[in-house]
Amino acid sequence: MTNHSAANRSSDQPKNDQPKNDQPKNDRLKNDPLKNKIEQRQARIGIIGLGYVGLPLALLFSEQKFAVTGFDIDQRKVDTIAQGGSYIYRIGAEEIRAAKAQGFSATSDYARLVEMDAVIICVPTPLNQYHEPDLSFITDTTHAIAPHLQAGQLVVLESTTYPGTTEEVMVPILEKESKNGLKAARGTSCDDASAKNEFFVAFSPEREDPGNTAVARRDIPKVVGGVNPKASELAGALYGSIFQRTVPVSSPAAAEMTKLLENIYRCVNIALVNELKLLCLRMGLDIWEVIDAASTKPFGFHPFYPGPGLGGHCIPIDPFYLSWKAKEFDFRTRFIELAGEINNNMPYHVLASIGGALNQHKKSVNGARVLILGVAYKKDIDDLRESPALTIIELLQKEGAQVNYHDPYFPFIGKGRKYDLQMKRTELEQLAQYDCIVIVTDHSDYDYRKIVGEAQLVVDTRNATKGIDSPKVVRC
Ligand SMILES: NC(=O)c1ccc[n+]([C@@H]2O[C@H](COP(=O)([O-])OP(=O)(O)OC[C@H]3O[C@@H](n4cnc5c(N)ncnc54)[C@H](O)[C@@H]3O)[C@@H](O)[C@H]2O)c1
Repeated sequence: MTNHSAANRSSDQPKNDQPKNDQPKNDRLKNDPLKNKIEQRQARIGIIGLGYVGLPLALLFSEQKFAVTGFDIDQRKVDTIAQGGSYIYRIGAEEIRAAKAQGFSATSDYARLVEMDAVIICVPTPLNQYHEPDLSFITDTTHAIAPHLQAGQLVVLESTTYPGTTEEVMVPILEKESKNGLKAARGTSCDDASAKNEFFVAFSPEREDPGNTAVARRDIPKVVGGVNPKASELAGALYGSIFQRTVPVSSPAAAEMTKLLENIYRCVNIALVNELKLLCLRMGLDIWEVIDAASTKPFGFHPFYPGPGLGGHCIPIDPFYLSWKAKEFDFRTRFIELAGEINNNMPYHVLASIGGALNQHKKSVNGARVLILGVAYKKDIDDLRESPALTIIELLQKEGAQVNYHDPYFPFIGKGRKYDLQMKRTELEQLAQYDCIVIVTDHSDYDYRKIVGEAQLVVDTRNATKGIDSPKVVRC
């Protein structure tokens, strides 16, 4: 007999019968002024940090008829928005202009925070030179907000960070430096009449997957954890107005940890498949064929794909926020360390593969003309942060190769990048003049059949040449 009850459902079966919204329905905040403003689209939203996360979020609120003010210390971004332009490839200028018509503006003047009902922080969280969390963007922003903080305002952190940042780092600064001695609301009841000197604080992680057009941003459930139940409910109401589903958790730390679990899961699984790729190469097996076959299993397997190394502002960085915090609890996060070691080694594997492929042609890396195809950290996006292509280029140059690159999204690789490279994109002409073409990022725009046809030798790190049977192709 088949039993369809939820209690008997295995954890890796689809969960599409879950309710659309996990926020408990209640009327406890029925007369709350901020909740009412949110529902009536009267709440004014301030978004601090108008980068890859903050700008799309501002547009989403704007689409839902909220008046949004963006805050950024980068004057170039503020000016571009003032002129109705965009500086992110996948966001068209027409979207910025539509938002402006809806009241969207950008400023670098923090004094304007006093006008806001809700303030959402989307600033970077990188690692420092010792591979430790660099919270300076969060603390700088918090110091800048504090003197302008108003009673009743809701402050939400979206930047990815270790559990405890919101309550242990941000809240004390806000309380200490706010005018009039404001305090973060900590009452355990939602019915508490909002004290005159309280503000509300929550954490809600950003879960965007850049370049993924299969899932609309508003369809990605939004996890929310407030310092107290009322902060949770207010943040839930705010995000519930632009996202299809909100998922409340018991605390900001639980929400912070949720985001890290998601990214560590990804990082560790990519490392696993990268390691198995190296083994498959040695055994003469095609890892991509194996993954495709394993993916036909309708449960218990989620495919991850090998590549030339990790990139982006999230997966190579976020896990180490947790490793660092874990030390405070005398705990070693061995999976994270091992995954980091394997993933960081992948650009070196690519270098060795290029050397091996050239060797087959009786050539050496030293003096070889090499074209890197695709430098973005993943396909079809304009983001170069932590891209393995930068490491591969640097390694090739150190070995004496003459390196050019092509990427439709980057006319230049400018100074100030990871390795201070200064390179100008070459055009996709005369491919035959290169001793080796290395596919590092498999942008959809490339005609791989044509590239293989014209090239002398192709090293493919992404299986972009799948189905092209040619002795010129080396998959690594
Ligand atoms: N990019 C992604 O795909 C992604 C996905 C999920 C989570 N995240 C997380 O979101 C956060 C932001 O990432 P991002 O990719 O948008 O970064 P980003 O570098 O694209 O944007 C950050 C913006 O913050 C601005 N900024 C820095 N300090 C500021 C300050 N004191 N005041 C005002 N503005 C300031 C910068 O000028 C920049 O415009 C990070 O914690 C990241 O880990 C990013």
